[in-house]
Amino acid sequence: MVIFGATGDLTRRKLMPSLVSLAAKGVLPQPFNVVGYAIESWDDQRFREQLRGEADPAQWQGFAANLFYLSGDFRDPAGYARLRERLAQIDAQTGAHDNRLFYLATPPSFYGDIVRQLGAAGLAREDGHGWRRVVIEKPFGRDLASARALDHEIGAVLKESQIYRIDHYLGKETVQNLLVFRFGNRIFEPLWNREYIDHVQITMAESLGVEQRGKYYEEAGVIRDMFQNHMLQLLCLVAMEPPVAFEADAVRDETAKLLRAIRPLPLDDLHAWAVRGQYGAGQIDGQPVAAYRAEPNVAPDSTTPTFAALKLRLDNWRWDGVPFYLRSGKRMPRKLTEIAVRFKRTPHLMFRPLRDRAPGANTIAFNLQPDEGIALSFEVKQPSDELRMRSVDMRFDYDAMFGEPPESYEALLLDCMQGDQTLFVRVDWVDLAWRLFTPLLEAWAIAPPDDFPNYPAGAWGPPAANMLTDNRRWRNE
Ligand code: BG6
Repeated sequence: MVIFGATGDLTRRKLMPSLVSLAAKGVLPQPFNVVGYAIESWDDQRFREQLRGEADPAQWQGFAANLFYLSGDFRDPAGYARLRERLAQIDAQTGAHDNRLFYLATPPSFYGDIVRQLGAAGLAREDGHGWRRVVIEKPFGRDLASARALDHEIGAVLKESQIYRIDHYLGKETVQNLLVFRFGNRIFEPLWNREYIDHVQITMAESLGVEQRGKYYEEAGVIRDMFQNHMLQLLCLVAMEPPVAFEADAVRDETAKLLRAIRPLPLDDLHAWAVRGQYGAGQIDGQPVAAYRAEPNVAPDSTTPTFAALKLRLDNWRWDGVPFYLRSGKRMPRKLTEIAVRFKRTPHLMFRPLRDRAPGANTIAFNLQPDEGIALSFEVKQPSDELRMRSVDMRFDYDAMFGEPPESYEALLLDCMQGDQTLFVRVDWVDLAWRLFTPLLEAWAIAPPDDFPNYPAGAWGPPAANMLTDNRRWRNE
């Protein structure tokens, strides 16, 4: 495995711990070597020291011996020639097979160059002696045109079967559990449609700000950072038709079909469908925190949105008339990733004393973070002299049942080595996702907001987000 950008955050925080854990479970192919490639002039020893992290000493000892480092420029052909030699040398030294996984953990502006250079150096060619696969981190392009240009550039070197566009949300246990819940049970699917469901809410709230990622985030903003990938993937999994098999193309055909059903956002009435926000100074857990505009590497007059809420409609038989409300933001009161499916109210409430009370409605909530699990809320009689009802939860708690779920990168790295693309993003999906969001990004760019910052850190976004929901309420406020 070659990691481009091996000195960066992603390698240290996600990739290396996942690889160490996979090694400890004994599921990595043997022998398994990692070559880090980046501009810093480190050597093998320094690479091993820097990445040691919190690893268990016993686990690390065996693993570290298979880590190597090569210093080079992402755009310099000579670096790739040296990489080719080094790989051949390591193969010979360790008796490794000829399979190669290239992981692009670099800023996105290098993706095209790296793949082109791999091609030119002959490193990407599958010549019958093993596979060559390339993992590409998000964002894949920054709008429809740039995504297509990147696809074109990469497609000149690699076949689609060699390209693994990663969305780490798809590696989360609880996200995959959504598929098992929907398609491994008989009792829910008959209710999963416009006859019974009132609306669906998807929330990805984070209490963190942009931390040290101001430079990246200024270019990205919340739509590119969260909606065009993670949010839309969750929408697909909760709303798609049942795939015929849990196989790459069967699943990805359905997610792409779902994206095709999303009604384009009406640009002449955008404020009723899409709300943007940016955090000002405020408090998180009682501690004062700075405004987005005061974060490192952020312009003092930045108009980058750190929050968005959208209403989407799906034009198909299953979902006609059912609104999907999506919201995501930084510096919200707490970390919460949740999909809530709200059912319609009972048509008639027979209990006389309760006639004035709104009839009950059930909710199935998939909690992806922080308390992984699934909860079904329903009405019960509360003990008292007069008839009273209240809502209670029937809850599956992932942690209590199975312990802490593994890091999502573990599953995805393993899938990639096994050649399973089911949980990776296919090129047509990327295209459809950009087709949906590019007009919104353009409309927002033409009309910069004049009210930023419009929510204090520690709030659930700007008040305007409440106007999107057609008199329904966002959960957890
Ligand atoms: C990343 C975004 O893709 O997902 C980050 O770039 C965000 O801005 C992160 O914080 C959230 O992931 P998770 O797994 O912590 O919910």
